[in-house]
Amino acid sequence: MIRLWKWCAAGGALAPAVWVAGAVSTGRAGADPVEYLLHFTGNTAFILLLVTLGLGPAARLSGFWGIAAPRRWLGVLTFCWAFAHLGVWIGLDQFFAWTFAWRELQGRPYLWAGLFTFAVLALLTATSTDGWMRRLGRARWSLLHKLAYVAAGTALLHQVLQVRADYAVFYLYAAALGVIIAARLASMAVTGLNKRGP
Ligand code: HEM
Repeated sequence: MIRLWKWCAAGGALAPAVWVAGAVSTGRAGADPVEYLLHFTGNTAFILLLVTLGLGPAARLSGFWGIAAPRRWLGVLTFCWAFAHLGVWIGLDQFFAWTFAWRELQGRPYLWAGLFTFAVLALLTATSTDGWMRRLGRARWSLLHKLAYVAAGTALLHQVLQVRADYAVFYLYAAALGVIIAARLASMAVTGLNKRGP
């Protein structure tokens, strides 16, 4: 049953790829498909990061520990979407013109926030294996993987720093992250700080 849930969650995380391929190939991506892809991949990475973070508190509060089972898979898929987002920016937006991309980075703090988030997600993905969990020990591994909350915070910063007029999406993302953090704290209070669990 848990295995099925893990595969369903992974399928859900990959399904947007089918949607975006359809949108681009049928012209639904609008006049600027590169911008569409950039925004689509960025939003998907962020939403997936929020879903991954939300599974732990949901499992603790409900008592159904299996809910949290796909977290590592979803974390890796979050990184894959962030990688696609970076790939769209470097390849399709900047045409691999590294000097130009470097110039773009100057004076655009939101890009640095994005790069920092990407680096954190890369670290978490690299250490998400059983081998790394054994090497670090459960407690240290869990502490390291709390960096996912830092990544969510800097991804939010990346998003808000580029808003020019409409803050609606930012408020939505900030509220979602706030609820997840509050649920995490509440779930820790309910189940006890020392109890093993997600
Ligand atoms: C790897 C470094 C990154 C670069 C260079 C980068 C670059 C960009 C660019 C150029 C945009 C579009 C800005 C505009 O249209 O004015 C964007 C939007 C966005 N990015 Fe990133 N990004 C990076 C990492 C990330 C990561 C890791 C996440 C999430 C986990 C993320 C989430 C977003 C979101 C949510 C948006 C806004 C989309 C929207 O408003 O529709 N980005 N990014």
